[in-house]
Formats: sequence, C-alpha cells, structure tokens
Amino acid sequence: MDQGHVANDLVDILFTEAQIQARLQEMADQIAADYAGQDLLMVGVLRGAVMVMADLARSLPRHVEMDWMAVSSYGSGTKSSGVVRILKDLDTDISNRHVLVVDEIIDTGLTLSWLISNLASRKPASVQIATLLRKPEAAQMDVPVKYVGWDIPNEFVVGYGLDYQERYRNLRDIGTLAPHVYS
Ligand code: PRP
Repeated sequence: MDQGHVANDLVDILFTEAQIQARLQEMADQIAADYAGQDLLMVGVLRGAVMVMADLARSLPRHVEMDWMAVSSYGSGTKSSGVVRILKDLDTDISNRHVLVVDEIIDTGLTLSWLISNLASRKPASVQIATLLRKPEAAQMDVPVKYVGWDIPNEFVVGYGLDYQERYRNLRDIGTLAPHVYS
C-alpha cells in the first residue's frame, strides 16, 4: 500500500486545520466560562480523541487534568450492539469531580451513551460531553451533548483523529476519502 501523501487521498475538505482550531477555541471559551471556579477533569476516549483533547485542552487558559479511557464494542466488530467493554479504565477516582468527556465524533451515540452511564455510576459531581463532530442522522441513542463543534451529514469522514483502517488520523484537516482508496 502507498505510504505517502495521505492528504492527497481526500476529495473534499469539510473542515480545515484553521477552522478546527477556531471552533475549538470557541468551545474552550465556553467551557472556561461554564467551569469557572470549579476543578475540571477532561476524559479523552482513545484513540480518535487524541487530537481534539490535545488542542481543546491547550485552548483553555486554566488548569485542567486529563485522563483517558479506551473502550471497544463486544461482538462481531460492529458498533451496533451498544455493548461496550473497557480496554483501559481511568487512573483517576472521579467521585465528586467535574468530568468532561472528550471525543472526536458521535455517530450512533451508543459508545458515549454507555460511557456516560458508566461514569455516572462512579458518583462524579457532574459529567458532560464535548465532541468535535456529531452525525444527527446516524443517532440511535439520544445522548445529551453540551459542547458540539459541528453537526455533519452521515458521510464517512477521516482526519484529525478519525481513521479509515487505522490510517488518516494524522491529517490536520477533516474530509472525505477519494474512491480510489477503497478500490
Ligand atoms: C469512534 C469515536 C467514538 C465512537 C462513536 O471511536 O471515537 O468513540 O466511534 O461512535 P458511536 O456514536 O456510533 O458509538 P472508534 O470506535 O472508531 O475507535 P477509535 O477512536 O479508536 O477510532
């Protein structure tokens, strides 16, 4: 497989690096205002949320702690079961903490729906969600999301943490893949 020029595989750029950074700054400003005077623990959902977490956290002018979870769907590799297992749990005790879960995309909503109820059972002071992207047309669960970068159509997108077969996460922009990639 070709190892180079990953950006050439995008046919349509949905969001440029500059647009992403500007939107994250707006989200960070809102988060800073909402959590003023409170501690804040951001929880990133591996692996796709790495870029969003890094840039959102650095857009905050305040102290913030970061921790990570890795989760995976049970079963035949599809996400549609809604049954999730924890591959890597938090290192942090979140009881009485203000938790902000950070993800790069909400698709069906099954992952975050499960994750939120799991975290809520640990008695945090609060738990909210920030996601860069959300696909309303794909929703199977109504997940209350406090901070959304953009709602997008139900198209397959890559870049900025989003992968196709574990590739394209390292693109700075978000876009759709050229057909030749699939063939
Ligand atoms: C993505 C994303 C969300 C989940 C959203 O992770 O980070 O956690 O899918 O899908 P859902 O709303 O349909 O549940 P993915 O399972 O692709 O793992 P990755 O972050 O390692 O790419």
